[in-house]
Amino acid sequence: MTVQERVLSESDVANFIEQGIHEIAESVKGARAINALSGGVDSSVVTLMGHRALGDALTTCFIDNGIMREGEPEHIVEIFRALDVPVELIDAKDRFFQALAGLTDPEQKREAITRTFYADVFAERVRDSGATFLLQGTNYTDVEETVAGIKRQHNILEQLGLDTQALYGYRVVEPVLPLRKPSIRLCAKALGLPDEIVNRPPFPGPALAARVIGEVTRERIELVRRATSIVEQELSTSGAFQSLAILHQDQVTGIRSGGRQFGYQIEVRCWDSRDATTGTPTELPFEVLSRLGRRIPEEIPQVVSVTYHIAPKPPATIEAV
Ligand code: XMP
Repeated sequence: MTVQERVLSESDVANFIEQGIHEIAESVKGARAINALSGGVDSSVVTLMGHRALGDALTTCFIDNGIMREGEPEHIVEIFRALDVPVELIDAKDRFFQALAGLTDPEQKREAITRTFYADVFAERVRDSGATFLLQGTNYTDVEETVAGIKRQHNILEQLGLDTQALYGYRVVEPVLPLRKPSIRLCAKALGLPDEIVNRPPFPGPALAARVIGEVTRERIELVRRATSIVEQELSTSGAFQSLAILHQDQVTGIRSGGRQFGYQIEVRCWDSRDATTGTPTELPFEVLSRLGRRIPEEIPQVVSVTYHIAPKPPATIEAV
């Protein structure tokens, strides 16, 4: 691992940002760059630094893969528009659902999403844009976990010795590479990003597909999307590290309007964790759980059962897929 970790204090941040903007401008000088924004704190910081360094020479896109949360693509684009940063919204929903059709194995689902993103949709946009530099929000933890063989993060390329210039025709610039999340959040604040982005809880790269057990279809994503909205509304102020809803594959017998309904099951998860490597389920007040147990089947009529996940990580993981 060639990169040296840096932990920023409040007083270092302005300098780090200035230096980073200068280095982006120097690396790209006279050429074009591109980056993909997800709305997470890492890619948001890189988008703002890149925009300040390059202005119109940077193309920023948000790829709508159809598996994001309710209104998320438009909302993130709007946040950046308010900061005077134009973001292209690319509608790639059909391509992701086609790639996911018929897949039930978790690793195959993840692989299909990564391939559709990098090899198809984003690769096309990079070619069309004429960019020869890619700005990425890779951070120190991503590199550490990948190099240690814990979890291959999809954004690790050059750190694994891949020659991106030869393979894809672009160089990768990674302005927050030496930082972990807390330092990146300090940068986000200093750059004037709204609190919603600065404090954004983690959300997985495979998005809601990481929360659908079994095949990922439009209908099943819609169910988990609606459950996610309810869970986030109820639990976002709980102080937990992350809260989520999972759609189970098996259906169960329920009753609605006096008749039998063979309906879906939603599992609610809420985690206390420092850095997601271990976690314990949050001890939520029972009245909060009861409210979720009432609201979810009321507002999503296909659902008849709601459970709360109580096993720690390990052996569980935070997501289900
Ligand atoms: P797990 O499920 O492995 O999740 O316990 C640990 C943390 O990482 C997030 N997560 C991901 N983040 N790409 C990401 O960028 C992924 O493929 C991915 N899978 C899980 C998860 O939300 C949790 O915070």
